[in-house]
Amino acid sequence: MILIKLGGSIITDKTQYKTFNAAATRRLCKEIADSGASAMIVHGGGSFGHVLAKEHSLQDGFRDPRQTAAVARVQHDMRCLNLMVIDELLSAGIPAVSVPPGSCFMMEDGRLIFDDPEVLLSASRLGIMPVMFGDVVFDRLKGFGICSGDQLMEALCGLYRPERAVFVSDVDGLFDKDPKANPDARLLAEVTRELLGGVSSDSAAADVTGGVRAKMEAMLRMASPERDCVLVNGSAEGRLYSLLKGERVISTIARGGL
Ligand code: IPE
Repeated sequence: MILIKLGGSIITDKTQYKTFNAAATRRLCKEIADSGASAMIVHGGGSFGHVLAKEHSLQDGFRDPRQTAAVARVQHDMRCLNLMVIDELLSAGIPAVSVPPGSCFMMEDGRLIFDDPEVLLSASRLGIMPVMFGDVVFDRLKGFGICSGDQLMEALCGLYRPERAVFVSDVDGLFDKDPKANPDARLLAEVTRELLGGVSSDSAAADVTGGVRAKMEAMLRMASPERDCVLVNGSAEGRLYSLLKGERVISTIARGGL
């Protein structure tokens, strides 16, 4: 099985509050369906999640009763985005159901408590794809917090043990230097823990998608000798399809166990 995260940078316009990128989402859902891969999908929030979450510091937990309206609004907006993604999956012939993470799971001090996955397993055993997404989730200590799509990917790796985890974003992968400032920057086809230590942190700091380096670190945590994690650019037409077909494409692969 292949676990796929459709990042908020590709399914939304991150700079404009609540702007869905329907064309890209439709194409990517079709690429996944056409590849015939056994897949499970998670998605990010992009401008449906991050804009209000940041404005009201929702990642810090409950501080002020004025945050509660934003908690409800972000949950509402994320469900709207999720239903649009589900709609595209259904149109592509994938039987997908919406599973808001906060409806089955709690967090504790920012950590997702993934102790009862019965809802997910009940769906997947029937060949139905449960689709979770980054969202506001209630937290035993902080009241609430943000559960990211990357945290869900980590939890799902533990549950389903996929052979590969794919992160679909709007960048080609990790570069050895900031590609915007350095025309000679080289795309790293493979990254190990050791190699990442030598990569200039500027390349991540300048990244608008929220830090390719931090994402690579999370990907290395999920990687094992049996599982690699791939960062691929979903705005390049057909690239995800080719990757899912087992071809080598422009991307960065995080290799674990090395
Ligand atoms: C963010 O999820 C969810 C909210 C802010 C509510 P992610 O962190 O996984 O989203 P992207 O992929 O970076 O947009």
